[in-house]
Amino acid sequence: MATRTPFVGGNWKMHTTLEEGRALARSVVAGVDDIPDVEVAIFPPACYLLPIMGVLGKADSRVLLGAQNCYPESKGAFTGEISPVQVRDCGGRIVLVGHSERRHVLGESDAFIARKVRSVLAHDLTCLLCIGETLEQRERGETDAVNEHQLRTALAGLDASIADQLIIAYEPVWAIGTGRTASAGDAQQAQRAARRVVADLLGEEAAGMIRILYGGSVKASNAQELFSQEDIDGGLIGGASLVGEEFVRIVEAARP
Ligand code: 13P
Repeated sequence: MATRTPFVGGNWKMHTTLEEGRALARSVVAGVDDIPDVEVAIFPPACYLLPIMGVLGKADSRVLLGAQNCYPESKGAFTGEISPVQVRDCGGRIVLVGHSERRHVLGESDAFIARKVRSVLAHDLTCLLCIGETLEQRERGETDAVNEHQLRTALAGLDASIADQLIIAYEPVWAIGTGRTASAGDAQQAQRAARRVVADLLGEEAAGMIRILYGGSVKASNAQELFSQEDIDGGLIGGASLVGEEFVRIVEAARP
């Protein structure tokens, strides 16, 4: 049996004011204090990374700080972007890469996402790589093929040495922010298939170590059923991560 430490991340997206963000971070820190067996991270908007770090205390605090995105270069003339160096400087330890809103709203390509994966890893940050199919792709029966393509293009050329720096989130696009959750069985099936692809790319041992999260309308009420599946090692939470108490209940549901 796998002994992967469950992970729950709160992706705040473009939400909260600074004061709301600080209050939310404080309630997460207080709420997860007695849940030591689940790794927890929050992903505030980039402009709040540093003040939220102030709430968390230190970079290796109980609640890890993550960035929602970064540019795949250390520095340079890239107006409006932030670099992995700057994320680290703010106390960030993790970066989301390939979120469906970046792929589909901001038009990021597989090649660009692959560059980001490499850059995040090279800067000694954890890469939380998001994959997932659209509704049309699911209806055409392409779920596993789409996930496989996204994994193969993002992880091409990498090997097992990066296993402890990689977390994957399966987030079916049609389930994000829609209130429509994948059934636990469907999510498990897709994530099992994704793990087989990771095994092919990085080896069996790495595939056994790497956490694969589910994301898409996770709430306190459906988290436990999802997280009890063998290949679902926690969740990446959007809307429900904006309410401290609800997010903490989701973290509780991820306990082994
Ligand atoms: P929701 O939980 O709001 O569906 O968002 C999921 C998500 O995109 C997390 O990254």
